[in-house]
Amino acid sequence: KMNAFITALMKKMTLEEKLGQMNLVTPVSRTGPFATKNTFEKLKDGSAGNVYAILGTPKSVHSRAILADSTRLKIPFLNGLDIIHGYKTIFPIPLGLSCSWDTTLIEETARVAATEASAAGYNWTYSPMVDITRDPRWGRVMEGAGEDPYLGGLVGAAMVKGYQGTNLRNETSLMACVKHFGMYGAAEAGRDYNTTDMSRLTMYQNYLPPYKAAIDAGAGSIMTSFNDIDGVPATGNKWLLTDLLRKQWGFKGFVVTDFNAIQEMIAHGVAEDYKQAAEIALNAGVDMDMASESMRAAMAELLKEKKITLAQVDVACRRVLEAKYKLGLFENPYRNFNLEKAEKTFLTEQNIKVAKDAALKSIVLLKNENMTLPLKKNTKIALIGPWGNDQAEMSSMWAFAGETNTVVSFLDGIKNQNPNVVFSAGSLSTDNTVFIQKTRSYYNEEEQQKLQAEALEVAKKSDVIVAVLGESKTMSGEAKSFTDISIPECQRKLLRALKAAGKPVILVLVNGRPLTIEEDLPYADAVLETWRLGNEAGSALADVLFGNYNPSGKLTMTFPRSVGQIPIYYNHKNTGRPYTEGKKENFVSNYLDMKNSPLYPFGYGLSYTTFTYDKIVLSDELLTGNNKTLKATIKITNSGKYAGEETVQFYLNDPVASVTRPVKELKMFQKVFLLPGETKELTFLITPENLKFYNSQLKWDWESGKFNVYIGTNSEEVMQASFVWKK
Ligand code: IFM
Repeated sequence: KMNAFITALMKKMTLEEKLGQMNLVTPVSRTGPFATKNTFEKLKDGSAGNVYAILGTPKSVHSRAILADSTRLKIPFLNGLDIIHGYKTIFPIPLGLSCSWDTTLIEETARVAATEASAAGYNWTYSPMVDITRDPRWGRVMEGAGEDPYLGGLVGAAMVKGYQGTNLRNETSLMACVKHFGMYGAAEAGRDYNTTDMSRLTMYQNYLPPYKAAIDAGAGSIMTSFNDIDGVPATGNKWLLTDLLRKQWGFKGFVVTDFNAIQEMIAHGVAEDYKQAAEIALNAGVDMDMASESMRAAMAELLKEKKITLAQVDVACRRVLEAKYKLGLFENPYRNFNLEKAEKTFLTEQNIKVAKDAALKSIVLLKNENMTLPLKKNTKIALIGPWGNDQAEMSSMWAFAGETNTVVSFLDGIKNQNPNVVFSAGSLSTDNTVFIQKTRSYYNEEEQQKLQAEALEVAKKSDVIVAVLGESKTMSGEAKSFTDISIPECQRKLLRALKAAGKPVILVLVNGRPLTIEEDLPYADAVLETWRLGNEAGSALADVLFGNYNPSGKLTMTFPRSVGQIPIYYNHKNTGRPYTEGKKENFVSNYLDMKNSPLYPFGYGLSYTTFTYDKIVLSDELLTGNNKTLKATIKITNSGKYAGEETVQFYLNDPVASVTRPVKELKMFQKVFLLPGETKELTFLITPENLKFYNSQLKWDWESGKFNVYIGTNSEEVMQASFVWKK
């Protein structure tokens, strides 16, 4: 039915109208260097068939969408936006949310976002971002799920399912756009838009799985990345967009470029002008051009010169029309949009409940010396720090449509549970100076002193200090790379002064990336990583501070001790000269001035209680041949005083194989809730699938031999067992 409908429609279309379908225009330049000229005229005359309706109110989004009615064939638009952690109800930034390791919850957040955004007139989101990230200098690490390919795949798939619902045709569904294809997270030296260079083996093993998982979950579109791969920009990379994506993976949706990425192939040095860039992009497998308009401008001439064929244009146009058909736009172009209903759909009690749950589960307890936390309800609190009473700073540069005044600030959240709280900023945040002075350590000493003195006065009168420090929201996200990822100097100075006040200090981090905080730790008795928690930031923080909720988040990105250790990630190789911490050896793989180990490893996160792991018990091989199975069982006991949830992590290692293998790889995990004193036995089923890897021929298979099993509370603190399996 769809094919016949589209074939009939395409018969009526002129070349210009077909090219219009391949054109995505943007009326403002918020996430790129320019806005499209004459956007509305182009939308009206059909030379642009899709709009990036950034910053729209429901009414304005709709006013763009109805422009389709004035075109000759009235083909509805794809109406897209970066809805990456909520539309009106803002959830924690994706990196924070991934620390929940709760894919059901993550799916739910995406569902809420889709319901709200579709009510505002959107039908497409540029999310999920599934780039694997091992370098916190890159500002975009906040947009993804961290460093692990398995967890990253689960999170990406959950988001696709949440956005797209059970059927794209449902009016509350948004089409997902998996990005950024590919390997964008490996931008060299963490500098945004930089080159990536890695072996095919690393791509297949570590970087590609999340894109594949999101596609297998049914994502309707995928976005090319800005970087080059093997010397060919992703947007012009036929191996990536056709051989791998279409032929190997069987992707049936459409490919859109990132913002102006076609034109950028000129600067990359693979195209002389926009015309050649458009030719390369179409030949590689791009279907839609975001913002550069090169395709629309060049295709007619390229056709005349026989550099491309009409059949290629037809294929791309058809894929875009198919997306519109699958979304049900031809029957119902405005779907869930309804001005009155829209307002009622936003920020509902139920949506806020999901936001609260998400915020609670994203918080990671990094340190808790002498059980500083939780606090007693009537504790006198000095809430200090530039974002202690800031609603806007609880979201990110991507939360375009969020309603700041609906966000619960940290101050309000605490006040609602304990009126004994006084706020003082205490420090400059440096976010303005960062961009003017290009350094995180510049600040105005006089102003800083003044603020600090005020804060110390407040601190003196309190029982405990809650210091909210970190990065402002302008410091992470696209184009926000830094070589220095410490807490800005003026805030570190404040922290030291606060500690000297002699009261317990709870450091509450607000940030979009792992920070280098090792030198700050002695000045904090407890540390909570809160990322940017979204709408329910304050109520979630208060619940954690007062012990109504026992923190359960686990890091999905390693925290380095120093920038010099980056890239740093748990699933690294052993090397031929491995270093053993604490052992005095020369000529081994280590730094002379720094430990190899991270400050906090992947999977790390404390609780107010303690979990004790018994030894791993491995069963005998249960079945043979291709159905081999092994049971790994382990008993976990809550050995502390609080009820709590633990994420039990299961890692594998293949110590001898035909290619070098990581020291550990996450293969499974289970969440378990335990009351004080309670013990539960968990079972993990190991099958040959868990042992497979890409060999030198890029064949996905396993090899006979010994395997090490690790089960534990994070990627470093684990119990160990081994087994031998032969084919
Ligand atoms: O979706 C984004 C992408 O992640 C980065 N460049 C701009 C796009 C549209 O905002």
